[in-house]
Amino acid sequence: MLNKHVKFLVIGSGIAGARAALELAQFGEVIVLSKSKTRESNTEYAQGGIAVTLNKGDCTELHYKDTISAGAGICDRKATKVLVQEGPSKVRELVDWGTKFDKIKGHLDFTLEAAHSRKRILHAKGDATGREISQTLIRRLKALSNIHLWAHCCATDLLIGSSGCEGVRFIDTKNGKIQEIRSNRVLLATGGVGAAFQETTNPSIATGDGFALAVKAGAILSDMEFIQFHPTALKLQGKRRFLLTEALRGEGAYLCDAQGNRFMDKYHPLKELAPRDIVSRAIVQETRKTRDVSAFLDLRHFDPKFIEKRFPTVSSLLFQFNLDPGKNLIPVFPAAHYIMGGIVTDLWGRTSIPGLYAAGEVACTGAHGANRLASNSLLDGLVFGARSGQAMNGPLSKWSLKLVGKSHKTHLLENTETRVKKQHLKEILTAKIGILRNREQLKETLSFLGSIRAKKTCNIHETVTENIRLNGLVIATSALFREESRGAHTRTDMPDRDDENWMKHILVNKNDDAHDISYQDVVITEWEPQIRQY
Ligand code: FAD
Ligand code: SIN
Repeated sequence: MLNKHVKFLVIGSGIAGARAALELAQFGEVIVLSKSKTRESNTEYAQGGIAVTLNKGDCTELHYKDTISAGAGICDRKATKVLVQEGPSKVRELVDWGTKFDKIKGHLDFTLEAAHSRKRILHAKGDATGREISQTLIRRLKALSNIHLWAHCCATDLLIGSSGCEGVRFIDTKNGKIQEIRSNRVLLATGGVGAAFQETTNPSIATGDGFALAVKAGAILSDMEFIQFHPTALKLQGKRRFLLTEALRGEGAYLCDAQGNRFMDKYHPLKELAPRDIVSRAIVQETRKTRDVSAFLDLRHFDPKFIEKRFPTVSSLLFQFNLDPGKNLIPVFPAAHYIMGGIVTDLWGRTSIPGLYAAGEVACTGAHGANRLASNSLLDGLVFGARSGQAMNGPLSKWSLKLVGKSHKTHLLENTETRVKKQHLKEILTAKIGILRNREQLKETLSFLGSIRAKKTCNIHETVTENIRLNGLVIATSALFREESRGAHTRTDMPDRDDENWMKHILVNKNDDAHDISYQDVVITEWEPQIRQY
C-alpha cells in the first residue's frame, strides 16, 4: 500500500478544489485527487455563467439583496456578504489568468438570469462558461511543480485519528487497489449530489461522495433538505436529462404548454425569470393539469443565428436530437441540479472536525439559504475555495458550532447487507424525496434506506451505491424534520412557510446507530426576510 504523507490534500478538481489548490501551492506540496478525469466535474458543464457585480449600474448591495431574497429567509447574511463582496476580485483574477469571458464591442457582455435585478452574469464561449474556467484553473495547476493531479482516484473514507482528520483512503480505479494518503490538512471539494437522483442535469460522478465520507467520519451537515431542481432540463424519452441554460430565459425564451400558451404569469410577476424553485413547481403544477409529460421552452421568436451563436452547446445538442429551435417547441421538465446544504463550515472552510475543510457545492456556509440564485455557485467555489486554501495554511483548529434548540435522535432500523442496485436507489430518491415530498413518503423512504446497506467491497460501484444510500438517509431525515415548505423544500402536507417555527438550520450528524438532529436558529442581522407571496 502506498504510504505517502503530503502537506495538503485536496479531494476534487472542480472550481472549488482547483482554486484552493492554487492558493495552497504558495505554501507547500499539494496532491489533488479526482474520481474520474481531472476535468470531469460539474464545473466543466456549467453553462449560463458566473454572477458578479462588475457591470455599470450594479453593486454588491443589490447582488446581496437578490441572493437573500432567493434564499427564502435563511441565508447566512455574513456568508452571503463574503460571497458577493469578494466575488469581483476573484473573477478579475480569473481574467488575469486567461479566462476569456464573452465581450461585445470590446466590453464584457453581461446577461440576465432568474431573480437577478441587474444584468450581472458573465459567460464564456456563449454557454460553455464552466469549460473555459476549468481550463484556465487546470492549466495553471499543471504549470506548478509542487501540485500533483491524481486522476481516477475515488476517495472512500476519511482517516480520523487523535488529532482529527489525518488523511484519506481511496480506490485507484485504474487497478482497483486500495491506497491511503496521510495529511493533516484535507479539503473536501467533491461537489454535489445530483447524480444520486434518476433525473438530473449532473454528470454521473456527482453522487455526493463527500457528504457520505463526512457523515461516516462524524462531521456535521446542515440544510440537506434543500435540493434545487433546475426547471429546464431537456425531457426526451430514454435520453439523459441535459441542461438547457436559464440564460435562454434571461435572453427572452418563454415557457409554455404543448399548445404554445405561456403560463408563468399565473405564478409570479417575474414570469419566466422568477426564482428557480417557483418555476420548477409551476411546471409540475401545469403538467399535472395538462397531463403532459413535460412543459416546453419556446425559442421560435429568436433569430436562429442568434441562438446558434449565443448558445452553441444548447444549439448543437438540440439539432443532435432533431429539434430545430426555430420551429419546434423544446420539451423540458425539472431535474435535480444543485444542493444548498452540505458539510457545515465557517467562512474559512473549517468543519467540525479538526484538519478537515470543505468548499464548493459539498460545503454549507449558508450563503445560498433555501434556494441558490442562478450563477452564484461558480462564484461560491472561487471565493470559498480560495478562503479554504488560506485557512489550511493556518493552525489546526476546529470551528465549534453553538447549537440552539433541542437535540433529537432518529434511530435507524437494523440493516442487512444486501445487493442493492444503484439504479433502484436513484429511482426512489427521485420519486420520494424529489421536488414534492410528504411525510408518508419520507417515512417510507427512511425505513427502506435504513433497513439495507450495500455490500462493503473495494468495488467502486458498491462504494458509490452505499454513498447514495447514506445521502438519501440524511436528505430524507432533514426533509421529514422540516415541517413546512420553504425555498426548494416543498412538503405537500405542509405547504406553507412557517417563519415562527422554522427560521432554523437543521443539522445532522451520525453516530453508530442513529442520526442526531439538532437545529440552529437563523440570525437575522439586516434585510428582514419576507414571507413568500406566491
Ligand atoms: P465539481 O465541479 O462538481 O467538482 C467535484 C470534484 O470532486 C471533481 O473533480 C470530482 O472528480 C471530485 N470527486 C467527487 N467525488 C470524489 C471522490 N469520491 N473521490 C475523489 N474525487 C471526487 N453554476 C453556476 O454558478 N453557473 C452555471 O452556469 C452553472 N451551470 C451548471 C450547469 C450544469 C449542467 C451543472 C450540472 C451545474 C451547473 N452549475 C452552475 C452548478 C456548478 O457547476 C456547480 O455547483 C459547481 O461547479 C460545483 O463546483 P465544485 O468545485 O464544488 O464541484
Ligand atoms: C444554468 O445555466 O441555467 C445553470 C446556472 C446555475 O446553475 O446557476
